[in-house]
Amino acid sequence: TTSSTSSAKAVAHTNIALIKYWGKKDSQLIVPYTSSLSLTLDKFYTETSVRFDPTLPDDIVKIDHQEVAGKSWQRVHDFLTIVRNLAGMKDHAEVISHNQVPIAAGLASSASAFAALAAAASKAAGLTLSSKDLSRLARRGSGSACRSIFGGFVEWRRGTNDLDSYAVPLKQSALNDVAIVALTVEKKHKAVSSREGMNRSVTTSPYYPTWVKVAQNDLSDLKVAINANDFTKFGNISELNAMRMHALTLSAAPDFMYFNGETLTAMNEVKRLRHDGIECYYTIDAGPNVKVLCQQANLDAIVSRFTKLLGQERVAVVHAGPGVHYL
Ligand code: PMV
Repeated sequence: TTSSTSSAKAVAHTNIALIKYWGKKDSQLIVPYTSSLSLTLDKFYTETSVRFDPTLPDDIVKIDHQEVAGKSWQRVHDFLTIVRNLAGMKDHAEVISHNQVPIAAGLASSASAFAALAAAASKAAGLTLSSKDLSRLARRGSGSACRSIFGGFVEWRRGTNDLDSYAVPLKQSALNDVAIVALTVEKKHKAVSSREGMNRSVTTSPYYPTWVKVAQNDLSDLKVAINANDFTKFGNISELNAMRMHALTLSAAPDFMYFNGETLTAMNEVKRLRHDGIECYYTIDAGPNVKVLCQQANLDAIVSRFTKLLGQERVAVVHAGPGVHYL
């Protein structure tokens, strides 16, 4: 259905995967080899407005007060073209996007960016999408974005094609006492992009077929832990699954690695905290930053240890956050 609305503004929050998405079965449509499970976060989000205007000669994209060109522009332009085709229209758009992240955190995420863009662009184009269809659309921009349509714990069911690969919020989640200490680690090298990294793991790691099997078990075990409010199990499975994903980078050819020295320092500190009876676990995405999973009761102790280690400006506390919404 179409209406006369030609502009819309949406906000979407980033999510952190506990069971990782790592590998595309269909790179064109972004259909993954495995299902994944994430927690949407409260503090980091992207606010995006989209305005379709028949007088514009081409799409204009402004991110954090800067007009973007090149690859970043192309990615937004391609996504807008998917929306234009869905809506049966040809107008170009002006996209204005702001990321809310801690200073110099490097935590800006394609997940919140494409979830907000999917919501704002589809509404501005006059489409009224169900949250399932919005998740399918966001997936086309960046796989992990399909999970940011929903709040709390979210499962991306891999499916087999464009129609049946989308995210759903977990129905039950007894586990509501989870806090995340997000650590910003010094970025020394430009990381291998998740697109390139996934492709290399899929095509060259001899362990990839095993990952596809193991990730499914990790996911069902994690759901059991969440429903049973079993934080110990939840943390152990999350940490293990993250390391299993990173083993796919170490075993690729040529090999690559998202950790740097400070990543290892933070991982060791998590283990030391655990040894001292302060329960916490780590998870790491396609970059050097470390997210520490813990419960509210241990939060202050963990924050103070990492503040001593890294400095206050590199330690942020986040909790579960909401799904995409309009402003
Ligand atoms: O959505 P992408 O292409 O940015 O890939 C995300 C990959 C990981 O963050 C490492 C894992 C995940 O499931 O979010």
